[in-house]
Amino acid sequence: MHNMDERKGFRSNLGFLMAAIGSAVGLGNIWGFPFKMGRGGGFAFLLLYLLLTAVCGFVLLLSELALGRMTSSNGVMAYGAVSRRFRWVGWVTPVTAVLILSFYSALGGYCVKYLVLNVGSLLGAPWGAAGRDGATIFASLIGNQAESVIYGMIFLLLNLLIVMGGVSGGIERFCTVGMPALFVMLVIVIIRSCTLPGAAAGLRFMYAPNFEPLRQNFLDVLKTAGGQVFFSLSLAVGTMVTYGSYTDRRQSLTKNAAVIAACGALVGLLAGMAVLPAAFATGAPMEAMGGPDLLFITLQNVFGKMGPAGPIFGILFYALVTLAAASSSVSLLEVPVAYLTDRSRLLGRGDRRRRYTLWATLVAAVLCAVTCADGLGTNGLWVPFQRFFAGAERLPVFCESWLSFLDMIAEGLLMPLCGLLTCVMVGWDLGPDAIRREVELHGNRFASYGFYRFCVRYVTPLLMLFILWGQLKNFFGF
Ligand code: TRP
Repeated sequence: MHNMDERKGFRSNLGFLMAAIGSAVGLGNIWGFPFKMGRGGGFAFLLLYLLLTAVCGFVLLLSELALGRMTSSNGVMAYGAVSRRFRWVGWVTPVTAVLILSFYSALGGYCVKYLVLNVGSLLGAPWGAAGRDGATIFASLIGNQAESVIYGMIFLLLNLLIVMGGVSGGIERFCTVGMPALFVMLVIVIIRSCTLPGAAAGLRFMYAPNFEPLRQNFLDVLKTAGGQVFFSLSLAVGTMVTYGSYTDRRQSLTKNAAVIAACGALVGLLAGMAVLPAAFATGAPMEAMGGPDLLFITLQNVFGKMGPAGPIFGILFYALVTLAAASSSVSLLEVPVAYLTDRSRLLGRGDRRRRYTLWATLVAAVLCAVTCADGLGTNGLWVPFQRFFAGAERLPVFCESWLSFLDMIAEGLLMPLCGLLTCVMVGWDLGPDAIRREVELHGNRFASYGFYRFCVRYVTPLLMLFILWGQLKNFFGF
């Protein structure tokens, strides 16, 4: 394994944290968390979410980081290095990562387009958003296949350039500048959003404690919160294993995992204060408070109605979202790239990062182009399994569009499955003690080991099983 010595990682622990937080903080936080929190009981939901972050998020995150660091390998090889029985699980990770990357980039492309639109409005150019309603803008964007594909490709190109730059020279550098910038922009947008007339309704919706949803359908809320914790911490895709493998052995893994998990939750809360008050202030309908509609219709309308300052806040906001999305997508692209470069290095062929980044991006580009051309199912493209349900009253969610279809395979099946198996592997095959040894290197303490051990063996796998069931239920609608 002497070639492994050349494997380069993050330059500093701060850089690693920025990259990992960048991966965690993405579209999921901005368009998913606020609305789910409001719907799920506000403050009551938050308590449940934090509890799940501890028993599920933190435990899996720590396991993945340790797994990567102890094996110094990418997702694929790390599983093989510690377990024969679970070796194949490693292979699931690059597949899932590329699938998520493809539809995530389609959405990232939309963000870039909105950034451009708001620049246009600021300049008073005809290609700006001025005078047009959010719904019209969005419909014409997704209806224009060529344009959507081009923006998707621009977003992927950005990823390509960053990942080609290497772990420290590309990803770390981008996130070390990008994450603090994102934070500053977020704070500015929060101040504007919370001072709009009628903003209080949004804050009340999101924060007011309401135990009713928990009392009425506790399992539903638990499933939503669990899925969110899991997706928002970028778990079970090989990302955190890979990033963990680039970290310094002297650093405390428990502290790092706690910081990442806490920042994920914090940005979710902040994002809620940025988007919901503004959305409520314009009196948008309830259905438009989450998902693509929130970002590309509701909020564009907010900026449209803000007068001369609108485009400036629009630019800030869409730049922020693009940054959040790009710092997540580079961590997805890094999963297959890390595997290919490690493999090449072990075979004595050198690093060849550039070539492999290009290959992986091309695969994602094909699927991304299809997703863009499909326009969230509005352009009548053939979608797998759709004909199957031609006679049905309502299509199952997973075949409504290419985006949902890819999302179903990734988020609905492969991710929860991989999360569950990772937990079972660490808890029962490899054993939590191996994780303890890795954590305690260089005199670091593992004060929560008793808690960790109990969770990783019993609590987390059961919750993961439950989340898997919940995801299947969401996508297949049974
Ligand atoms: N955490 C990202 C978000 O909240 C999405 C995501 C899920 C992700 N799994 C990932 C990002 C794996 C990078 C790697 O939007």
